[in-house]
Amino acid sequence: MSRSAGCCQSCLHSLFDYETSKTLVIPNLGVGCLFRFTQLLVLLYVVGYVCVVQKAYQETDSVISTVTTKVKGFAYTNTSDMEPRFWDVADYVIPPQSVNSFFVLTNMAITPHQKQSRCPEFPNPSTTCVDDCDCIEGYNNPRGHGRLTLITIPPLSFLTRLSLRPAVLAVAENFTVLIKNSITYPKFNVHKRNIPSQIRSSYLKRCEFNRKTDPDCPIFRLKDIVSEAGEEFQDMAVKGGILGIIIDWSCDLDWWARPCKPKYSFRRLDNKNPSNNLVTGLNFRFAKYYQAPDGEEARTLIKAYGIRFEIIVFGTAGKFGIVPTIVNLGASIAFLSLVPMVADWFMLTCMKKRDLYMRHKVAYLLDDDDTESVPMGTSYGTQ
Ligand SMILES: *[C@@H]1O[C@H](CO)[C@@H](O)[C@H](O)[C@H]1NC(C)=O
Repeated sequence: MSRSAGCCQSCLHSLFDYETSKTLVIPNLGVGCLFRFTQLLVLLYVVGYVCVVQKAYQETDSVISTVTTKVKGFAYTNTSDMEPRFWDVADYVIPPQSVNSFFVLTNMAITPHQKQSRCPEFPNPSTTCVDDCDCIEGYNNPRGHGRLTLITIPPLSFLTRLSLRPAVLAVAENFTVLIKNSITYPKFNVHKRNIPSQIRSSYLKRCEFNRKTDPDCPIFRLKDIVSEAGEEFQDMAVKGGILGIIIDWSCDLDWWARPCKPKYSFRRLDNKNPSNNLVTGLNFRFAKYYQAPDGEEARTLIKAYGIRFEIIVFGTAGKFGIVPTIVNLGASIAFLSLVPMVADWFMLTCMKKRDLYMRHKVAYLLDDDDTESVPMGTSYGTQ
């Protein structure tokens, strides 16, 4: 009975005891240095990383952007397997308008004068007849090119190019594209364009983007885009591919910061993995229909290879804000208050006089006038 009462009393005791800290001064160079050094580390983190790198005192907003493009250039082709012809934008940019991207035709396989009639299917297991019973009239293979008939047709020679190299529109490397990009940071009411207002129209007529000499010019040569992405244009032109034009609008809108400018970078987006060379590149088929002289509908089938340029705009803007400043200041101060813990741990575990420090560190005041129960140090006295 008395024991449980005693226990309960001591429980209540520790629950309602008030703990207060007293200052213990340790005149030891080791602990002192460690303490200051840890403080310095925390300060460096707060100033260097939180303030300078992270700019944690800023409010942020994400970019809203719109892009239009205009490709320029023309080509003349005169190869043995195609009729000589001129190519302009309306021929090689397919479709004429698309969102945040443009496709430039660089290579093709043309099948002219196609009409709806009987023709041999590509040889494959479901179309190769061993004997007559194999061929079911009217059967259509979803992966085939039409319905089977019972009439055998001698194979035609396809009028497509057999070798894709070199690319038909190799000249496309010299085409240029004008990229017009407008952005908004709605929270800060900031509107900007990638064509700075101080640029003259005479400069725009002749300039070409170059990272060193013309970093503000919004006109890019396709070859430069591809080579900045680490690719060879003529290689990529043969089977096509996808290339990213990445515009980074990360901005510091505080008045002391540098003015906000877009940063361009380029990278290939489709995976060109040399160990997996199966179905790489970018191609699609389209047809141009016309009426043949005999009145029948005919078409020119084009298997188009080309490079799709995708324009990816991203960015965050930051500007000094009082709320993030207070929040991050609080977090930094909390870090500073951890420093004495590190010094305490070092003092109580790693030092020779740790037992002495331990005795002084924690003291239980039993009674108001029982001052003797508090062990008092001699040289390391407390106030
Ligand atoms: C692109 O232009 C350069 C310089 O005008 C020229 O030397 C080069 O032959 C052109 N490229 C092609 C594929 O015609």
